[in-house]
Amino acid sequence: MAENLTVLDPTYSKTERYEALLPQLKALVFGELNIIANLANLMAALKQSMDFLWIGVYFVESDSLVLGPFQGPVACTRIGFGKGVCGTAWKEQKVLIVDDVDSFPGHIACSSLSKSEIVLPAFKNNKVWLVLDVDSEKLAAFDETDQKYLDEVIKIIESL
Ligand code: SME
Repeated sequence: MAENLTVLDPTYSKTERYEALLPQLKALVFGELNIIANLANLMAALKQSMDFLWIGVYFVESDSLVLGPFQGPVACTRIGFGKGVCGTAWKEQKVLIVDDVDSFPGHIACSSLSKSEIVLPAFKNNKVWLVLDVDSEKLAAFDETDQKYLDEVIKIIESL
């Protein structure tokens, strides 16, 4: 396992920061089989490297999403199917980017500081296994660059 993380400061572009981070994320989980340990370190490395308010996963457990490893302020522990941005991404089985959470009907405000959000589903045996949720204190913080690289993170998660 990698013992430390090289973090590029915000003077680097988002692409440069994700490019520097991705190989380190792969190294971080290499050789470790415990899923919770790996997810915990992935969330920590992402939070340490990028300007996120909150990043974490919610596991699908029967008819709810249940909070898993995360970094950031305390969060809601359960989200129903089709509820909020996370439950909608689960139901629709697709990535959702919300530029302004206040304009998303049914958005669940775990932190009043959150202004925009991206949620990506991860699949196991063709079913949604968990969703990766990322929140920002800035409006419209997430774009196709985040989607592209967080999709690579999803591939790492799906390989755990
Ligand atoms: N805002 C999310 C809830 C999870 S928190 O942001 C951590 C939603 O609407 O599903």
